[in-house]
Amino acid sequence: MCGIVGYVGPRSAREVVVGGLRRLEYRGYDSAGVAIVADGRIDLRKSAGKLANLEAVLAEHPVAETGTGIGHTRWATHGAPNDVNAHPHLSASSRVAVVHNGIIENFAALRAELQAEGITFHSETDTEVAGQLLGREVGRGATLIEAMRTVVGRLEGAFTLVAVDAQEPGRVVAARRNSPLVVGLGDTENFVASDVAAFIEHTREALELGQDQIVEITADSVSVTDFAGNDAPTRPYHVDWDLSAAEKGGYDWFMRKEIHEQPQAVADTLLGRYTPAGALKLDEIRIDEAELRSIEKIVIIAAGTSFYAGMVAKYAIEHWCRVACEVELASEFRYRDPIVGKGTLVVAISQSGETADTLQAIRHAREQGSKVLAICNTNGSTIPRESDAVIYTHAGPEIGVASTKGFTTQLAACYLLGLYLAQVKGTKFGDEIAAIMADLEGVPDKIQRLLDDSQVILDLANRLTDRRSILFLGRHVGYPAALEGALKLKELAYLHAEGFAAGELKHGPIALIEPGLPVFVVVPPKGRDMLHDKVVSNIQEVRARGARTIVLAEEDDTSVADYADVLIPLPKVMTILQPLLAIIPLQLFACEIATALGHDVDQPRNLAKSVTVE
Ligand code: F6R
Repeated sequence: MCGIVGYVGPRSAREVVVGGLRRLEYRGYDSAGVAIVADGRIDLRKSAGKLANLEAVLAEHPVAETGTGIGHTRWATHGAPNDVNAHPHLSASSRVAVVHNGIIENFAALRAELQAEGITFHSETDTEVAGQLLGREVGRGATLIEAMRTVVGRLEGAFTLVAVDAQEPGRVVAARRNSPLVVGLGDTENFVASDVAAFIEHTREALELGQDQIVEITADSVSVTDFAGNDAPTRPYHVDWDLSAAEKGGYDWFMRKEIHEQPQAVADTLLGRYTPAGALKLDEIRIDEAELRSIEKIVIIAAGTSFYAGMVAKYAIEHWCRVACEVELASEFRYRDPIVGKGTLVVAISQSGETADTLQAIRHAREQGSKVLAICNTNGSTIPRESDAVIYTHAGPEIGVASTKGFTTQLAACYLLGLYLAQVKGTKFGDEIAAIMADLEGVPDKIQRLLDDSQVILDLANRLTDRRSILFLGRHVGYPAALEGALKLKELAYLHAEGFAAGELKHGPIALIEPGLPVFVVVPPKGRDMLHDKVVSNIQEVRARGARTIVLAEEDDTSVADYADVLIPLPKVMTILQPLLAIIPLQLFACEIATALGHDVDQPRNLAKSVTVE
């Protein structure tokens, strides 16, 4: 939700900042802007729309080529996504420029206060309030960092602010509360950004900032304090992926690249977690085994795609560990007075580690005395930092806004967690765990086979571009897979797409079936699953009413062939692991149909990768 970058060093700040924004564009792409500190003034350029529009403005109206600057790519919260509301925002004197990620909740009161002093506002944003407050403080003689300390004391809500002062060239000051910010440590240059992707081509050394900290960077210094000005602890770390991991590598879309990275990403997530001696070792679990054994209930909280991964985890955990497991949308959890406490383990699933709803939910759970375990893809992000334990997924950077490898690696981590708890609680024998692990470790090759044999689904996508509605059915773990398939299609193709539990069909949704309506059905493995025949009956029911059925079933399942208009064979795997395979054709379908419709697959309309506002 908004990408921000700041730079001080010997290079062209314009070049570094725009390059950083390019890698952060997944966080928001409603508008973009830069502010460059130049000879006692600020050169400000901004434009509605994607970064390319800002680049065109910069080409026509160049800025000074100095070494201090900040930039922003926006996902609008307050005010329409137009040129005026684009960041950076200037103070009345044009001396200070600021960019912001988050929501300043008391902006209306602050705006009224400043207007009463005669300050005119130009935008509808909450951010301009911060710029005007900083301007007022430096006008009264404060340095930029002193002004920042005063201003953060006046703001309520979530904010990461990055500011420059025309009178203090060579210096960028940033403050962080609730929205992400990392520092990049270079050689005679330093960076601040929402995400390491912004500076990874310049340095892989980073500094993780905590909550309520202010950082001041110059070309050769970085100082971090709390909001009161006391020295604050920070954690330096090395980023273990490089620039090529954040680039498209020959694919048309990041999303398509990320779909194809799944065999590796799932294998990497499993790697080293099951020892040759037959034990699961999850190093990042800092909750002792006795405590885990005494857990009476597990509550999984997540949003969007991560929520669907959580739904699959519920099936696995209850089945393997015999412990009650609920899954709840993070946005609902916190506001309904949930019953959690000492005997509850809360599992938060988040690719970004920054989702505001999930973060607030884990804070609430910890206040109630629950231990929190995060499943997360982003090292150094807030959710794992505020959790008692973490299982990192090793998907590498996920840039496409629609999650793909994020989802499958979350599934892999959820299975590992379920098996680990079964091991600790003694609800599965070692040889049973070994058999499941063997199947799980075989999944990456099977995903690869699905990717290699994807022509049928790609052709189908190109034939269905005229449809306005597509349904997805599944049962048991096939149900969350159906929901995720439908979500991908909504996000990317802007089509009406809905996932249903196949058993619910007769309770209402069957009324939607009309001749020609495409219906995807995820069929459980044959023979080993009693639900198989029930789902085959559901296929017949929709087909009898004219639906066009696209059936995803185990490769030697001959019982479905007669009822499938299109048959997508899935490699064999045990029932509970099937979503890892079933989702692959559904991801490819959504990516392909959106491409055929001419949509921007990596940056779908109205979305942002990391939802850091509630
Ligand atoms: C869908 C998608 C979103 C995210 C959701 C949670 O493709 O990407 O639904 O899954 O916003 O994000 P994280 O996992 O970062 O908490």
